[in-house]
Amino acid sequence: MRRDRPDIMISIVRCQVGFLTASYKRRTPMHEFIVSPYMGRYVMVKPGSKAGATMPAHRYRDLVGAAHDAPAPIWLTAAAREAWGVRLDGKPIAPSVLVRADPGLGYGRASWEVNLGCNYECPHCYLGVKKFEGLEMEDRVKLLHTLRDAGVLWLQLTGGEPMVDRLFVETYEAAYDLGMMITLLTNGSRLSLPRVLELLTKRPPDRITVSVYGGTEKSYDRTTGRQGAYRLFTKGITAAHRAGLPLALSMIVTQDNADEVGLMRGLAERIGAPMDEYTNMVPTIYGGDETLPAQSTAHSCGSGRPSPVATPGTRSSMSTRSARRPSAKSGANRTST
Ligand SMILES: C[S@@+](CC[C@H](N)C(=O)[O-])C[C@H]1O[C@@H](n2cnc3c(N)ncnc32)[C@H](O)[C@@H]1O
Ligand code: SF4
Repeated sequence: MRRDRPDIMISIVRCQVGFLTASYKRRTPMHEFIVSPYMGRYVMVKPGSKAGATMPAHRYRDLVGAAHDAPAPIWLTAAAREAWGVRLDGKPIAPSVLVRADPGLGYGRASWEVNLGCNYECPHCYLGVKKFEGLEMEDRVKLLHTLRDAGVLWLQLTGGEPMVDRLFVETYEAAYDLGMMITLLTNGSRLSLPRVLELLTKRPPDRITVSVYGGTEKSYDRTTGRQGAYRLFTKGITAAHRAGLPLALSMIVTQDNADEVGLMRGLAERIGAPMDEYTNMVPTIYGGDETLPAQSTAHSCGSGRPSPVATPGTRSSMSTRSARRPSAKSGANRTST
């Protein structure tokens, strides 16, 4: 159902955690590369880059066993040079290369709804009730350590609107610093804020997927139930595009914008961003059908144009073009406490 089906779905609003193992304030120097187990292989990736490399198990084990101040081995410096044009020659492994432990659990991806609150009121939204609630920072750090220890390398942060969460920046930083490749799923309304741009240029995400809710101000604002939303959206994607951030777009076709599909496609072409198209509306997570009247009748189930979605090279998951809501039927483990 989703484009990148994660292994773990998390929707935690409140959680009682009895003890703390780490402080999010303790920061390690920033890495440039991550070496990690992933789906039975050993990969080397670079946040902000689509390139990747794999390595045999014995080389991964050598890195795990090496002292942090040991010089980067020749094969590693060659890989960094060839795949990314980065020179690690003569440098120690740490902090440039963050080598992640192998938990042997096999979870590679997760999606986390950090806060169900949102600044919009889309009539089609499957969340129904959008409460502004989220974990306290200490609990978030604990959760992120759990995900890291489960083997999660690719983490999607979403919501509600993740960027209106009061601890969004700190949460993103904590996840990044633990060695996760981060994808954001956002309405883009906060993308132009200087502190958000600074965060994302300093700690580059793997991808920022911005939902597109219309091709004109009128339909966009109607689809999101919020006057001024189109202006924020265009400001956000313009700023992110200028900053060179990895944008992807998701066209959400509803009854309110179905006649602007061409305009929305044109927008994606203008900024050179890939775009997926979602045409099927699903009921709320509570099972109510309040969202369904938003379904475009011209694109009702099965009459859309489903097509395979291009998945980035290092990914394993596939999906069809459809609705985006996490589903129990997807086989993912969704935790809600
Ligand atoms: C819940 S939103 C969270 C992220 C962010 N607020 C946004 O709008 O992109 C995740 C995605 O699910 C889509 N979505 C929401 N309700 C839906 C529904 N009932 N059916 C299909 N897709 C839906 C949204 O349009 C958005 O693309
Ligand atoms: S779809 Fe996204 S932007 Fe719209 S109300 Fe739901 S969470 Fe907010």
